[in-house]
Amino acid sequence: METKRKIIIDCDPGHDDAIAILLAAANPKIDLVAITTVAGNAEVEKTTLNALKVVEIAGITDVPVARGAGQPLIRVRETAPDIHGDSGMDGPELPLPTIAPVNEHAVDLIIRKLLESDGDITLVPTGPLTNIAMAMRREPAILPKIQEIVIMGGGTFGNWTPAAEFNIFVDAEAAKVVFESGVPITMMGLDLTHQALATQDVSDRIAEIDNPVAGFIGELLVFFRQTYRDVFGFEDPPVHDACCVAYCIDPSVFECKKLHVDVETKGEYAYGMTLVDIHGVTKKEPNVNVALTLDREKFWSMIIDACKYYG
Ligand code: BDR
Ligand code: CA
Repeated sequence: METKRKIIIDCDPGHDDAIAILLAAANPKIDLVAITTVAGNAEVEKTTLNALKVVEIAGITDVPVARGAGQPLIRVRETAPDIHGDSGMDGPELPLPTIAPVNEHAVDLIIRKLLESDGDITLVPTGPLTNIAMAMRREPAILPKIQEIVIMGGGTFGNWTPAAEFNIFVDAEAAKVVFESGVPITMMGLDLTHQALATQDVSDRIAEIDNPVAGFIGELLVFFRQTYRDVFGFEDPPVHDACCVAYCIDPSVFECKKLHVDVETKGEYAYGMTLVDIHGVTKKEPNVNVALTLDREKFWSMIIDACKYYG
């Protein structure tokens, strides 16, 4: 039997984080070891509640959910209510979860799972990198135990400032720790995730699937489409975070290139920018596998299959 890829999703749900979790839970190639939460799209109390709601609707209550950092390492916290609503996951109405987070901090859980592992766990951060950086600093012995980190963040342009993408901007110091860790990193930046647009045609395909999870994803996309139209003038919303899980399922869906990436933490205008050395001008060793293109049809087929999986 094919071995499943073990992943921990470290997230801030978040419409696209929720879809990432649902994709992971549905796909036979993924073993979802844990979900950890962080402040990002909303405060960590809210992102944790949202993660629990997603776990419950997915029926994966055996997957531990651990609450993590409520503040970035250094900066004052920023959230994204204009994009994700006040709750961090506005739109669909889900009942309050009956399950609770585990009694272990996200950082401790990440460290414990990695140390107990055979070095076969991939970390999938889809929010600010605070928990991952804290885990690396608290227990450096985890570094050789991390198989890979598949990050949603960064890019050659920004969406929070002209230079910076939201997840990196919210905690660029944490991002710097992670990008300089020496651990294999694959980066799903905006250049890539803006190819993962949930067009109306995708929403129509999802609407044909009659189960509560497909209905939930459909409602997430309705809200997300509207805020992306209002705030960014996009016709359709990019489902950023699901790209990381799709990569773990089948890397061949993506074309990637190994490049050097630095994170700006001091800039007056460019705080949180990822400097992707596309033309090799720094002559520095590549430290990141940067995803460049996406096979849209294969990507959306994975999501549609996930929707069907739920009934
Ligand atoms: C990232 O920021 C959040 O709003 C999304 O969930 C995604 O992780 C995109 O910049
Ligand atoms: Ca996110």
